[in-house]
Amino acid sequence: MPESLPGPGEAGWRAAEVFLLYGGAPPPLPLGMEIDFDTLSPADRYKVLASLVTPRPIAWVTTVDHEGRVNAAPFSFFNVFGSNPPIVAFAPGNKGPGLPKDTARNIRATKEFVVNIADEAIGEKMVATAESLPHGESEIVAAGLRVVPAAKIEAPRIAEAPVSLECREWATLEIGNNRLVIGTVHHVHVRDGLLDPETLRLDHSAYSPLGRMASPDWYCRTRDQFEMPRPD
Ligand SMILES: Cc1cc2nc3c(=O)[nH]c(=O)nc-3n(C[C@H](O)[C@H](O)[C@H](O)COP(=O)(O)O)c2cc1C
Repeated sequence: MPESLPGPGEAGWRAAEVFLLYGGAPPPLPLGMEIDFDTLSPADRYKVLASLVTPRPIAWVTTVDHEGRVNAAPFSFFNVFGSNPPIVAFAPGNKGPGLPKDTARNIRATKEFVVNIADEAIGEKMVATAESLPHGESEIVAAGLRVVPAAKIEAPRIAEAPVSLECREWATLEIGNNRLVIGTVHHVHVRDGLLDPETLRLDHSAYSPLGRMASPDWYCRTRDQFEMPRPD
């Protein structure tokens, strides 16, 4: 055995096998592209991250301003982060330095929002609400959607959405040009037929939320699901 081989121990012996297999030369490493994120432009960082960290769920957020005008917009920098308390977070980037998008501005004013989830049937309408209308003009009306009152907060939910989470702002972190809105969930609306009322288990065949894929305009359906039990 060559002197430079690592000593006994599981990892050591595995390394020794690799060493012998390649005749003393280092094993070929899978070569890939290296990207220096410290020098990459923000636009290119977005392209890379938003395309590779996929699929992402999409928060379709409804808010109201102080005059009660309803705003809606999708955000795929979004996820759920805990259940006790139940936490969600999403990230509206600023329009410009220090300039919040309407969603973030409304949440700053009212401290509440609804996260609606879009399925395939209303995917195009969800994307239509990404249009940047002047503050106070409703993307909901423009997209031909309806809103209905929420149970616990002023911001309404989207009637056509299969799932809506009523949230109160817990904190908004400002990190450079990003805002990370963290909220706690206080009430959930679920379309009939999705959850078993006894067990709260999902009927997978009845729910197909859309996922966000590569930048700028790719999405995935979630119809092809499978079960993979985890080890005990
Ligand atoms: C599917 C989808 C996901 C999006 N995700 C985000 C996101 O995570 N963060 C963001 O700042 N903008 C995102 N956008 C763009 C916003 O929806 C868009 O800027 C919108 O006009 C913001 O609306 P508002 O000014 O009414 O808040 C996304 C757009 C689409 C279509």
